[in-house]
Amino acid sequence: MKNCAMSYPYQINSFEEYQKVYKESVENPEAFWASVAEHFVWKKKWDKVLDWNFTEPKNEWYKGGKLNITENCLDRHLAERGNVPAIIWESNDPNEKQRILTYSMLHKRVCQFAQVLINNGVQKGDRVCVYMGMIPELAIAILACARIGAIHSVIFGGFSAQSIADRLYDAQSEFIITCDGAFRGGKDIPLKSVIDDALIGNRTVKKVIVYTRTRTPISMIKGRDVWWEDEMRHVEEMGIKEMDAVEMDAEDPLFILYTSGSTGKPKGVVHACAGYMVYTNYTFVNIFNYQPGQIHFCTADIGWITGHSYIVYGPLSAGATSLMFEGVPTWPDAGRFWEIVDKYKVNILYTAPTAIRSLMSYGLGPFQGKDLSSLKVLGTVGEPINEEAWHWYNENVGKKKCPIIDTWWQTETGGCLITNLAGITPSKPGWATLPMPGIQPILVDEKGVEITEAEDGVFKGNLCIKFPWPSLLRTTYGDHERCRTNYFATYENLYFTGDGALKDENGFYRITGRVDDVLNVSGHRIGTAEVENAINMHAGVIESAVVGYPHDVKGQGIYAYVIYSNTHGDEELTRKDILQTVTRMIGPIAKPDKIQFVNGLPKTRSGKIMRRILRKIAEGEIENLGDTSTLLDPGVVEEIKNGHI
Ligand code: PRX
Repeated sequence: MKNCAMSYPYQINSFEEYQKVYKESVENPEAFWASVAEHFVWKKKWDKVLDWNFTEPKNEWYKGGKLNITENCLDRHLAERGNVPAIIWESNDPNEKQRILTYSMLHKRVCQFAQVLINNGVQKGDRVCVYMGMIPELAIAILACARIGAIHSVIFGGFSAQSIADRLYDAQSEFIITCDGAFRGGKDIPLKSVIDDALIGNRTVKKVIVYTRTRTPISMIKGRDVWWEDEMRHVEEMGIKEMDAVEMDAEDPLFILYTSGSTGKPKGVVHACAGYMVYTNYTFVNIFNYQPGQIHFCTADIGWITGHSYIVYGPLSAGATSLMFEGVPTWPDAGRFWEIVDKYKVNILYTAPTAIRSLMSYGLGPFQGKDLSSLKVLGTVGEPINEEAWHWYNENVGKKKCPIIDTWWQTETGGCLITNLAGITPSKPGWATLPMPGIQPILVDEKGVEITEAEDGVFKGNLCIKFPWPSLLRTTYGDHERCRTNYFATYENLYFTGDGALKDENGFYRITGRVDDVLNVSGHRIGTAEVENAINMHAGVIESAVVGYPHDVKGQGIYAYVIYSNTHGDEELTRKDILQTVTRMIGPIAKPDKIQFVNGLPKTRSGKIMRRILRKIAEGEIENLGDTSTLLDPGVVEEIKNGHI
């Protein structure tokens, strides 16, 4: 396969260069981000680099610029890298043949599917819900949306019909792209059937386009549901092989991605075309120190932001080869990742601490016979990595030769904000280390005052960012006020991340975890209020309180305290019923690991649940509960302690 050279003039090559670039980027952010944006294809250059204030909030980049992100991800590579693989796809089933889509092939498919969308009535600005497994058609679907200016809203395959219905309603989506089913490990997930459940009573969805993956029996509703393959054949017969990309304003929305917060309802985080493109590309090239021709394997699902930014948009805009894996790390055995690394000579492996911890538990057997010598860079994302997992990753996967990057970021930030740059800036186990150029972190106390006193050389506070960057979220869909109150109202003139962090004497950051009521389970964000709402839907539940507790593999587990009306029944069965309700309301990912039935919850006199106490009990810290004198009924604490599981 042809391996054409491509250079990235903005790639940082040494620690000194990082320091210089960082300094310039904060002294003159507009000049800095303009210089990066020069290296993209614009239909028209921007008039103004940045227009912002954190009070409304307003955060607009490259205003007046016109572009289409797919021209940057596809068209611009065709002349020189048309035959280079854009996506290599590895099936869930190790015996199924891989698929390789070169940039030319991907371009053609995206153009054709864009025509399918148009034929089915999708127009610029329409919201298209995408609920698919990890197959190349998922990437084709979202790029085709971007090609015609439709706004994609990808929903992870683990969310339930109810969650989909909520998201369809919130975004007022009229179109859905799905599959009959998805393979994941030993499971066959009936995606279309879940969509059908989500559409009961729905009157806004006009079309559902269904790709055949599992050939599970499904119902196809006349006039509403169409097969992907038939539609593509029709376009092929029309002789369509390419299609001009629709001109988009820099600030037009590119996609919506729902994520959990401290309230009961997920928010639709909105990212804009130009800023998101520039930042994901810039970070991809620099963080992984990507060299043309390398094989980049990000193990995330495209249902999450990591997949959007570092399987699709970042790598493709850089002309990279992105490996997409349909399955899970432990099926059919725990050597699956290593087999893939060996098979494709993967150079960059980007995964989550939860996957590393899970693989650790299988010992070193799964590495046997697998050649991992192609690996150059290892990365982690999604949650704090414990030192034990970091060292295991370093020793057994990287053979102590690969830099490990610990990338801290969020759905809202679009791309990585705090991380070391592979082989360029120093690493420190458990620490995300230094901010990317253009990123200005600050640690503050409860009142928003900057932490200036260190304890034993370490500053500790709530992590905020004081200046915007191109891929900071624009709004929460349909509710800008919510965006303001969630992220910009806690502290004046700061973006509040919801995370706590430490900073050492070198200016390195360590993210310690959420300081709000959001859990991070296997690298997935889940709001405690969301889980409580789901539990409370169960008949017989009077009240519930959900907290996190340390979990060996998942990072955090979900612990639910439930007041149930009829305690005479079979407790175990009731537990299962509640789990079923949560699965229905949110999806299996939000199922509590532990449910403790209680007669009361520790509340203050004003009726507020004292989660601090519940958290301590869930963590097993039964003895040292701190001050309980403000409780309405201190007696309930004793009972909860005694019933702790
Ligand atoms: O708490 C932080 C944690 O994950 C949260 C963001 O979750 P989400 O929007 O789902 O995005 C995950 C993938 C980017 C953050 O608020 N987090 C993410 N990366 C790290 C992390 N915590 C510690 N270290 C990280 N590298």
